[in-house]
Amino acid sequence: MLITPRQNKLNKIVILNPKGGCGKSTLATNLAACYATRGTTPAIMDYDPQGSTTGWLARRSDELPAIHGIAAYKKSMQATRSWQLRVPSETETLIIDSPASVDHDDLRELTRDSTSILVPVLPSSMDIHAASRCIADLLLVAKVDRRDRKLAVVANRTRKNTKSFATLMRFLDSLGIPIIAVLRDTQNFVRSAEQGLGVCEMQPSRVKPDVEQIEKIASWLDAWPQRRRESNSTTSIEKPPSAARSLFRRTHFGSA
Ligand SMILES: Nc1ncnc2c1ncn2[C@@H]1O[C@H](COP(=O)(O)OP(=O)(O)OP(=O)(O)O)[C@@H](O)[C@H]1O
Ligand SMILES: [Mg+2]
Repeated sequence: MLITPRQNKLNKIVILNPKGGCGKSTLATNLAACYATRGTTPAIMDYDPQGSTTGWLARRSDELPAIHGIAAYKKSMQATRSWQLRVPSETETLIIDSPASVDHDDLRELTRDSTSILVPVLPSSMDIHAASRCIADLLLVAKVDRRDRKLAVVANRTRKNTKSFATLMRFLDSLGIPIIAVLRDTQNFVRSAEQGLGVCEMQPSRVKPDVEQIEKIASWLDAWPQRRRESNSTTSIEKPPSAARSLFRRTHFGSA
């Protein structure tokens, strides 16, 4: 069972998609570096069993803006679980890098009190199917309310003019879920990961389009208090969209 903090006013950003290799850790590290360069120390909670963000932090130079790492995938016998998972009280932003497989209880726990949920998606039809299922679970199992507008997709390693991208766009459009950024397929993400950097900390002339997309995501994330205020002022009760319900039936019970 995963455990995540219950700290009021914490900007809790969850990066999630049970499909392995879709870019969760890449997104987590790049957003952490982006927040760190602004001058406040973000925290990353690493639930990836490969310890990807923990390894990235270990490779990060001490001279770079600080990021607090929490190796949540490790279980220590020397400390209580809550001590192991504590987030420093001054932390404003917590980024959670989730594991590839998440059961329904973990999904509820991960998303509870979250301010934003990002689902990175690769462009293949198998990945899009997995992402659609993940989104259906978020809406129908974790009961993420679409009116909160906390859920968004980041298209990763994507060429925009493909059939599968158009299919993903149509599905998300029918649910009113935005694609807030499109990350291109580039070695810049691989090289920055090797050096414990975010793309925003690399030679600017090489990474301009990549930094623009990461900053676009950060701007969307920054608007969470406004989205929350607007959602609190919405009172009507809305059923889950039929697209999500029919998808849930198809993916969980195999019916068309
Ligand atoms: N936009 C990109 N361009 C090029 N390489 C990328 C891009 N995004 C991710 N990668 C590479 O793809 C691999 C998988 O990415 P990453 O580790 O972020 O996925 P993940 O979803 O965290 O995987 P897992 O589910 O195994 O934890 C990594 O080697 C990463 O450097
Ligand atoms: Mg990972």
